[in-house]
Amino acid sequence: MPAVAAHQSFLAAPATGIRTRSRTRSSGARMSLKEDGPSLAVVGVTGAVGQEFLRVISDRDFPYRSIRMLASKRSAGSKFLFEEKEYVVEELDDESFEGVDIALFSAGGSISKKFGPIAVERGSVVVDNSSAFRMDEGVPLVIPEVNAEAMGHIRLGSGKGALIANPNCSTIICLMAATPLHRHSKVTRMVVSTYQAASGAGAAAMEELELQTREVLEGKKPTCKIFNQQYAFNLFSHNAPVLSNGYNEEEMKMVKETRKIWNDMNVKVTATCIRVPVMRAHAESVNLQFEKPLDEDTAREILKRAAGVVVIDDRASNHFPTPLEVSYKDDVAVGRIRRDVSQDGNHGLDIFVCGDQIRKGAALNAIQIAELLL
Ligand SMILES: NC(=O)c1ccc[n+]([C@@H]2O[C@H](COP(=O)([O-])OP(=O)(O)OC[C@H]3O[C@@H](n4cnc5c(N)ncnc54)[C@H](OP(=O)(O)O)[C@@H]3O)[C@@H](O)[C@H]2O)c1
Repeated sequence: MPAVAAHQSFLAAPATGIRTRSRTRSSGARMSLKEDGPSLAVVGVTGAVGQEFLRVISDRDFPYRSIRMLASKRSAGSKFLFEEKEYVVEELDDESFEGVDIALFSAGGSISKKFGPIAVERGSVVVDNSSAFRMDEGVPLVIPEVNAEAMGHIRLGSGKGALIANPNCSTIICLMAATPLHRHSKVTRMVVSTYQAASGAGAAAMEELELQTREVLEGKKPTCKIFNQQYAFNLFSHNAPVLSNGYNEEEMKMVKETRKIWNDMNVKVTATCIRVPVMRAHAESVNLQFEKPLDEDTAREILKRAAGVVVIDDRASNHFPTPLEVSYKDDVAVGRIRRDVSQDGNHGLDIFVCGDQIRKGAALNAIQIAELLL
């Protein structure tokens, strides 16, 4: 990730030209800066998720009285504008959290492991995007629309710091769609296949996909730095390490995190995670098995009413969710809602889900968690 250019605004138009449906700020507005708001720190502010944190803070008028912009030594000293104010990126160190109420972490697991506890010791509530603490007992793993109650005991201003974990992006997108159905008729088994975008692997992976696409079209050998094989015009099994049981870490995150978030150690989950050459937003095919019957019309009505979910399910014109349509959007889109013909009666459903994993799968979910603290 290159250092932030001097005075670069993080709120520049998105790369694909697709606009967020969030409101556009008029220039000169500094809507979220509020004297009585919490003091924030964004750790990993120059990264894909870090940049999205700032967009979401602005889009949602999340109140703050100050923000510390933190990254590595590489970016320290870079200047940029955010909500009309100039900020200088600071190098993350042990003193970064003095006086910080909420620390939003997105700089990778090793940074979270080292600096998360330091921030908590200083009294900050840490909302962490990495997998470092997700499965730790006592650390709530929260999707606000699904299990906000898990963090009910954490209060801002209590003088006590705390850790809250943001689930894996694929888990969030899947459970946003599956949970409303699960609440109606308990899910006993879930089979997920993912089609994951480059952005899930960070800003450098997005740059690599763009570069490789140009190179392949120009007949050149593609540059492989982030991934060890050609990504443009190809797809491959998720780059997370493969474990001794044959699953990769991304797949096992979906298995374990679903159990923790649903507080159901018996739900059976299996997943196959694939990287596809899409710039932004993940897609997932989800097969659900229910304890009690749930027909597809009822499921469609439940999903239409679900918070944070939009149904795109137009069979006549073959229009269903796509990664492009959900890019920079807050809602997770669900379509292809149909009875699973391989299961008896109405005990099974297939759905297809798309969600912007930098937004709802990371930054938006984390800011929603922070909103619950206010
Ligand atoms: N991308 C997603 O969709 C997504 C979704 C959910 C969760 N996450 C998680 O969020 C985290 C960040 O992902 P990303 O996609 O935003 O990655 P990214 O684009 O590669 O950004 C990484 C950020 O971490 C900073 N960083 C790296 N080393 C550091 C250090 N030693 N000290 C302080 N800051 C350091 C980088 O700063 P420099 O610019 O100074 O190097 C940069 O700001 C990861 O844990 C990832 O698993 C990502």
